[in-house]
Amino acid sequence: MQTLQLTNDVYWVGALNSTLRAFDIVFEARFGSTYNSYLIRADKPAIIDGVHEKFTAEYLSKLQSLIDLKDICYIVVNHTEMDHTGSLTSLLKEATNAQILSTKTSSLFLKNILYSDYNGKVVEDGECVSLGNKQLQFIHAPFWHWPDTMFTYVQEDAILFPCDGFATHFCDERLFDDRVDDFSEDFRYYFEHIMGPFRKKVLEALDKIKQLDIQMIAPSHGPILRTNPQKYINTYRDWSTPKPPQNKKLIVILYVSIYGNTKKMAEAIAKGASTVNTEVKLMDVSGISPEHIRSEIESADGLLFGSPTMNGDAIKPIWDMINILFSLNIKGKKCATFGTYGWSGEAAKLMEDRLRGLRLNVALPPLKINFIPTEDILKKCSIYGYDFAKSLTSF
Ligand code: FEO
Repeated sequence: MQTLQLTNDVYWVGALNSTLRAFDIVFEARFGSTYNSYLIRADKPAIIDGVHEKFTAEYLSKLQSLIDLKDICYIVVNHTEMDHTGSLTSLLKEATNAQILSTKTSSLFLKNILYSDYNGKVVEDGECVSLGNKQLQFIHAPFWHWPDTMFTYVQEDAILFPCDGFATHFCDERLFDDRVDDFSEDFRYYFEHIMGPFRKKVLEALDKIKQLDIQMIAPSHGPILRTNPQKYINTYRDWSTPKPPQNKKLIVILYVSIYGNTKKMAEAIAKGASTVNTEVKLMDVSGISPEHIRSEIESADGLLFGSPTMNGDAIKPIWDMINILFSLNIKGKKCATFGTYGWSGEAAKLMEDRLRGLRLNVALPPLKINFIPTEDILKKCSIYGYDFAKSLTSF
């Protein structure tokens, strides 16, 4: 596929990566992804966003099919992550008259990406830059999903270029949302994993674009959204708006057990936690995909993790759960850890250390039980659950 015309003067000049199956190593891309870059052939031509370094040659060739690169006046860097700036060094070698437009944060990041002086201009929130017959307007959108991010809006074409916002890892060369296959599940997955931890920031930026006439959203990955763009904006708002607080605090207890002893602990903790005004969900996570319990984890007011110790460590199913927390909105949630052990008992403390690193709020010290919990010990576990539940309502 070569290029695709969006409007009279706006072209998609990006790259398709249909064989990709994991983006940034950790995010599922079951139908591949695209790196969307756009050329605006205005009086003063501009490029918006770039592509991954490994697609540089075909990217430059696509651009050259539409324009002499020396004629490019501006390169807009909405966001500096390397899937969009990997091609930038090579592009600058050809587009020698181009000035980079970016936020201040991006300009600092670019110093350590380009490793050379470059012709750049920092644009402020709301600032406009004239392309002659069109104007670029910049809307700062920090933490969509990096601190450097901004959107670019072109009023004359009513197009919003939000970089990673409203994007999808979904490769379909037909590109327009009314032409490609159903990508709704992947659109949701992308939001949950990339934007989910920054819902407050999502809402702040949505407020800034409320008044814009947006007829098309041209993101940096996946389909270009031209069928009722407001629908996607409303969807982001809905997914980002905090749900009304429930009367009862929700405690989610995730555990794994080898011989049933950590399971007994988990059940006793759940029993104790239930005596306070709480809802408790107890989940044996062996054999469960972490993806299936993302929403439970995010909805929880408190999280407990239980694992026996094996070879000086917690065991894999519980680490798999903890490993998805970085992509969830969980900072500050109350948590605690527990588990049985034979002779060393490191698991509970190792889990706690990791949870602290993820900036959860550890409410109680780890609870470790040697071998088989007796009735008295299970009472102790029950009290532990009660104390944890109480910690959710104390200040
Ligand atoms: Fe598509 Fe944050 O990079």
